[in-house]
Amino acid sequence: MSKTPLASDDPANVNYRPNIQEDCDFCQQISEAGKSSKPPQLSQRGAVMLGIVGAVFTGISAALVPFVMPGLRRVALPYIPASAAQISYVFRALEGRSGSLLDIGSGDGRITMAAARQGFQGHGVELNIWLVLYSRWRAWAQGLSRHAKFYKRDLWKTNLSSYQNIVIFGVESMMAPLEVKMGQELNPGTNIVACRFPLPSWSPVTKLGDGVDTVWLYIIPDSVIGHSQVTS
Ligand SMILES: C[S@@+](CC[C@H](N)C(=O)[O-])C[C@H]1O[C@@H](n2cnc3c(N)ncnc32)[C@H](O)[C@@H]1O
Ligand SMILES: *[C@@H]1O[C@H](CO)[C@@H](O)[C@H](O)[C@H]1NC(C)=O
Repeated sequence: MSKTPLASDDPANVNYRPNIQEDCDFCQQISEAGKSSKPPQLSQRGAVMLGIVGAVFTGISAALVPFVMPGLRRVALPYIPASAAQISYVFRALEGRSGSLLDIGSGDGRITMAAARQGFQGHGVELNIWLVLYSRWRAWAQGLSRHAKFYKRDLWKTNLSSYQNIVIFGVESMMAPLEVKMGQELNPGTNIVACRFPLPSWSPVTKLGDGVDTVWLYIIPDSVIGHSQVTS
């Protein structure tokens, strides 16, 4: 008559909480895949873990999502969020600017939402669907949905040309190819703020902060004399 309860360490148990230290080898795989913009080549264990997270997620009613999300983030979503200091430097660098702003790799949406509060039309692109859903929910909860929009999209497949302001806090290896892409797509006058890692060959207009919170501001020059000649 009575069902045998599932053991707490049985992954089929909805209360199962993997030991992050031990089980996060698949986190690493997801993180690596994010860097190279390729679908994750998950081990069987990783695939099983994601399947469980997916199944648990779909089984939960919309009302419960906000409460469960922080747990999911801790388990399955490795990324580095911007610090409060970093965010304040970003918007100090962009003082007096307005219009559209794209946060490349928007994470949990904090920069895009800060941009919306500053009067920008903020967009975030992010590969990780959980972070995108979480960002949308947070923007909605804070009444910012009209000015902070999030897309599950690969930055390398995103046409940057319509943005007047770009914020990027990515990984170091991303900066060189990104510089090339931005040189090809962005219009003169576009402001770019790079966080923590500078663009390798362009000359910044300003540098604010220090250490891991450093941000660099670049402005796309008038392209009349030579196209995309933004080198130093
Ligand atoms: C260092 S985190 C920064 C998050 C956020 N911008 C912030 O400052 O809090 C970089 C983010 O870029 C995302 N990312 C990495 N490669 C990407 C790609 N090819 N397209 C879109 N997003 C990507 C990662 O998933 C991660 O959330
Ligand atoms: C991006 O969009 C602009 C404006 O629509 C267009 O002129 C340009 O060719 C596009 N670039 C790429 C790489 O698709």
